[in-house]
Amino acid sequence: MYKDNPALGTNEAYVPGLTTEYVSKTYGIPIADVAKLGSAENPFGPSPKAAEVVMSARKIDNYPDWTASALREKIAEKYGYKPEQVICGAGETEIIPWIIRVFSSKGDKVLMYVPAFPIYHMVAENEGRVPVFIGMGDDLDFKWDDYIAAIKDDVRIVFLTNPHSPTGRLIPNEQIRTVCKAAKGRLVVLDEAYIHYSNTNGGMDLLKEFDNLIVLRTFSKVYGLAGLRIGFGISTPEIITPLMHIKPTWNMGQLQSAGAVAALDDDEYVKKTVEAIAEMRKYIVDEIGKMKGRYSVVGEPCSNFFLLKIEDRGLDSTTLFNELLKRGVIVKDGSVSFIGLGKRYMRIDVSLKKHMDRLLRALSEIHPVR
Ligand SMILES: Cc1ncc(COP(=O)(O)O)c(C=O)c1O
Repeated sequence: MYKDNPALGTNEAYVPGLTTEYVSKTYGIPIADVAKLGSAENPFGPSPKAAEVVMSARKIDNYPDWTASALREKIAEKYGYKPEQVICGAGETEIIPWIIRVFSSKGDKVLMYVPAFPIYHMVAENEGRVPVFIGMGDDLDFKWDDYIAAIKDDVRIVFLTNPHSPTGRLIPNEQIRTVCKAAKGRLVVLDEAYIHYSNTNGGMDLLKEFDNLIVLRTFSKVYGLAGLRIGFGISTPEIITPLMHIKPTWNMGQLQSAGAVAALDDDEYVKKTVEAIAEMRKYIVDEIGKMKGRYSVVGEPCSNFFLLKIEDRGLDSTTLFNELLKRGVIVKDGSVSFIGLGKRYMRIDVSLKKHMDRLLRALSEIHPVR
């Protein structure tokens, strides 16, 4: 009975970023003018190679290959591993619950920073596991001594996000190594949804050094395929095999797999996207740097979003969120989207120049209530 687990009876669910259609209709702003900066999607749209394959697909009458072998082979080849080391799902968000179910038992602890991607703690709670939240520093910096000290016997899974959301901070590989060593005998989940934007290879190569590591990646971000739903994990065959047993048999449709295979050949699109976002990230960070005393950017973001800090005590994140919406700018209100973040932060996507300028205009127009 679900009532045995109070987490399943709450009304708390994931709070997604709002849609452009909703904001356009509610506030009477032309759809093309709405700046959608709350879901970290690719503002240039889908990888053209993936879109072409998906749009022209006709072979959808047969069941797909239940293991998504073509995609697993492609991923394995791209990153230098074997297909039996890869598992695919309808986004990382489908794979995370399998990991929690397979590698921990009811009552076990699951370690994560707070704030972090909310799915980690929501899934842990839904599955009867106990999230252990490690707070970040005053400047939302990582507290590695605290993190390592919290890896106690009853912790079975340790989450890392690289770059971290919502701060965009990158974790050096040396630090990931330290966590993997400290977590010996437990699973370290390295979520690299946004890694392309860091211009590093991230922790993928560490799979050669550690057998207690799984790296997760997604096609939702730099490949622009959030609506197609594809993510994957790479680890040892010993970790992937039980996950293959748990996954719903035909979880990966033909279009998902075909689109992802094509996207992996679209290096040119990835490069163009990453370069454009890096340029706009510099622009927006510099411009917000001129708003001293009112707003600031947390750390040095290595992602396609940044964390805005509201410096002015007369304004809180929910008021700012609503005022931005009225001006056609959708962001993430930190106090709603990330537990433990409080009322002074917004996660905002780096996007097209016209959207960054709309955001800057709106930020300068909105004045605190005294
Ligand atoms: C840190 C992080 N991991 C994973 C995801 C979800 O990825 P997917 O679309 O592959 O489920 C998100 C989505 O916003 C995210 O922020």
